[in-house]
Amino acid sequence: MQNQKKEQTLTQKVQSLAKRRGFVFQSSEIYGGFEATYDFGPLGAEMLRNLRNLWWKEFVHRQKNIVGLDSAIISHPRVWDASGHTESFADAMVEDLKTHKRYRADHIIESAIGENVDGYDLKELDKIIEDNKILSPDGNKLSKAKYFNQLVEVKIGTTEETKSTAYLRGETCQPIFYNFQLVKDSMRLKIPFGIAQIGKAFRNEIKVGPYFFRTREFEQMELEMYVNPKDADEYFEEFKKWSIKWLTEELGITKDKLRLRDQEFKERAHYNKVATDVEYEFDFGWKEFQGIHNRGNWDLTRHGEYSGVDFTYKDDKTGEEYIPNVVEYSIGLNRLMFVLLQDSYVEEDDRVVLKLDKKIAPYQVAVFPLMKNKPELVAKADEVYKMLVEKDLNVAWDERGNVGKRYYSQDEIGTPKCVTIDYTTLEDNTVTIRDRDTKEQIRVKIDEIYENL
Ligand code: GAP
Repeated sequence: MQNQKKEQTLTQKVQSLAKRRGFVFQSSEIYGGFEATYDFGPLGAEMLRNLRNLWWKEFVHRQKNIVGLDSAIISHPRVWDASGHTESFADAMVEDLKTHKRYRADHIIESAIGENVDGYDLKELDKIIEDNKILSPDGNKLSKAKYFNQLVEVKIGTTEETKSTAYLRGETCQPIFYNFQLVKDSMRLKIPFGIAQIGKAFRNEIKVGPYFFRTREFEQMELEMYVNPKDADEYFEEFKKWSIKWLTEELGITKDKLRLRDQEFKERAHYNKVATDVEYEFDFGWKEFQGIHNRGNWDLTRHGEYSGVDFTYKDDKTGEEYIPNVVEYSIGLNRLMFVLLQDSYVEEDDRVVLKLDKKIAPYQVAVFPLMKNKPELVAKADEVYKMLVEKDLNVAWDERGNVGKRYYSQDEIGTPKCVTIDYTTLEDNTVTIRDRDTKEQIRVKIDEIYENL
């Protein structure tokens, strides 16, 4: 049993803890699961909420010239023509002629002959597969390569005849672009200014996983900064520094496990002039979880062309006229949670601890009455619980088993402090506070608990 545990990868360990303790569940599990979709359980929901709030505080509330948006997920289909997604948001795929499983052509070629074929067209991919006699992972012949668009289509309308095709948004930023004028005018904004949004995005990914790293439904936190074209390079550099600072100083992610990687020309999305990935060293390698992009004037120019609206900006002071450039900060919320679960997972002595920053942990504090069948202890603990909740803390309540077990149970979900109410509390109004990382215990007065957290 012990050996089996040792052989597990970090992702497997995190996955089993996340299921057992209510962070992440396979979606529709009772029906056998649904590929690459996950539901976030009670503790996952708290953690995601904390991350959303921290991001919004840093990138919207702390910035005088950045405002938020909460747009519809389904927009006019022309949005996705203008953005270039209906035309260019596609991967070349091949199909196993026997099993009918589909694969990304570039992945099949790369794993067979180690060649990077990013940016090759269908004919070039077919020729490489033919010349090198490349087969599917199951050893069968492959079909010719075909483009497969990643936009998720939906049919909208009440009758078969009136139904039309729309798309679930492939990235949260497009509504930020088509709402440029409305936000600018209603909020009386002047360039430079930014619009941020947090929300769901959908992509028909061919290759999914591992675990919830790449899924078909996910959440993004995106900031689009509208700047004078001559300032775009400077903002791009500043955004890289800002990103690393927030990830390390506010979220406490290990600095050595983060790196910035500039994308090669052929890797870049159709809208990007330059792009840098923020990568984390997962147990399955260095992978991107955030992108900093200089999108130039692609977005406003295209939405201008497709809608007929003129997005030229006139600077009142200098008289200068230009189409604003966009510098983008885009991070996957779920993928950020994946990073944090891996980064905080520690096995030490006889326990598993999630050493999450207190701002991110599902609960900041747990409150225990020493014994659950002593009404006077439960009533006092309830008072403390309510007092802490009113201070805007997420508070766990646990009255089961012995206190030692309760500490270990809270360690495993990352709760930084546990407060125990015992018989001494009833005499002198003091409680024990136990620290997750040092296991040290101190005795403090009830009205000093908050400052000791
Ligand atoms: N607006 C720019 C944009 O969407 P992206 O690099 O395609 O850029 C940004 O996506 C971030 O969104 C990624 O760094 C990743 O964290 C997250 N993301 C993208 N596709 C994802 C997927 N299929 N599953 C989970 N997260 C994804």
